[in-house]
Parts: sequence; structure tokens; C-alpha cells
Amino acid sequence: MELIEKLNDLLANYQVFYQNTRGFHWNIKGEKFFELHVKFEELYTDLQLKIDEIAERVLTLGGVPLHSFNDYLNNSEVKAVQNVTDGSKCIQSILDSFKILLEKQRAILNVSAEADDEGTNAMASDYIREQEKQVWMYSSWLNK
Ligand SMILES: [Fe+2]
Repeated sequence: MELIEKLNDLLANYQVFYQNTRGFHWNIKGEKFFELHVKFEELYTDLQLKIDEIAERVLTLGGVPLHSFNDYLNNSEVKAVQNVTDGSKCIQSILDSFKILLEKQRAILNVSAEADDEGTNAMASDYIREQEKQVWMYSSWLNK
């Protein structure tokens, strides 16, 4: 039960992050347009795959995945971002969102390890590994 709640909370955060990233893909301006427009598409495509996996994990565990914009906005710690056109600001927002996701996934991993839920364990640890690498790359882009 606790895992279903935590996965639904994670799902809400992914959905808002996903939509923010689509906004960055559309609204980015400046000389890095071509580079970042493509990079943000790559990111939201990956987020979309994970969104589906998380929702289907909720179903697999016997829950109902959150599926309305209202539920996502009411449950997400990642806040909806509007009208950002600057590349560095987009990337800072992406890094802030990854930080939230990583914390939530580490908390899920603790619960799923205790519950011997190997499926959720494997999913959370894959996401953590991939996103830690993303954090390194986006931070490098920002020269941080
Ligand atoms: Fe596009």
C-alpha cells in the first residue's frame, strides 16, 4: 500500500516534469536552440516511457495510477514552469526536478527493499543510475 502511494506520488512528479520539458522543447530560444530543442525531446521521450512503466507498476501492485491533470498538479512537488526560454534556466529547472525524483526514488527503494519487492527495486535503481548520469551531464553543460 505504501509503495502504491509512493509510486503515485512519483508519477505525479514525472508528469509535471514531462510537461515542463515539453515546454522547454517548444519555447527555447537563442544560439543553443538546435542543440537544446533536440536534447529536451530526448529527455521528455525518456520521461514518457518511465511514466508508463510507473503507472503500470502501480497497476501490477493492485493500485490505480493517478491519471488526471488535477491529481498530478495537486500531488507534485515539481512545480509547473511557464514561459522559460533561456537555456541555462531550462537546465537548472531540469536539475532541480531530477533532485526531487532522485530523493523520491531512493525513498521508494528503501521501502521496496524491505518489502522484498524486487520488481519495484529494479525499476527504482535503474532510474537512479540513469538520472545520476543525467545530473552529471546537465551540470557539466552548466559548467557546475
Ligand atoms: Fe517537437
